[in-house]
Amino acid sequence: MFGRIDHIGVAVEDLDGAISLYRDRLGMPLQHRETVEELGVEAVLLEIGDGHVELLTPAAPDSAVGRFLERRGPGMHHVAYQTDDIESALDSVRASGLHLIDEQPRTGILRSRVAFVHPKSTGGVLMELVEPAKDR
Ligand code: CO
Repeated sequence: MFGRIDHIGVAVEDLDGAISLYRDRLGMPLQHRETVEELGVEAVLLEIGDGHVELLTPAAPDSAVGRFLERRGPGMHHVAYQTDDIESALDSVRASGLHLIDEQPRTGILRSRVAFVHPKSTGGVLMELVEPAKDR
């Protein structure tokens, strides 16, 4: 169902401060920065091996990441698993009885297609399925 872990999502209140930590002090190259309207976030991807760290901060007043920060504060937000076929991965996850947040894929960073699985059905870890854009 999954190829590999694509990225770890980290919720931050201070995006520039977090970039300074991950890029400048930990040495991870910054690959991309984008406001993803559909998810209500400003996101930054940093490279680590063939995976990424994704820093997320709210870009809209009532975003899921904003509510997460209010409830839990900054920290680990989600783990993203890569798939070549997100419809098929969604079908498999649904058939295995997990609770989907997104019944249909949404547009994520770098025009990827993403869907989230509720942490109450995955042992407390928000899970993202991600199908990268074909030309990425
Ligand atoms: Co993500």
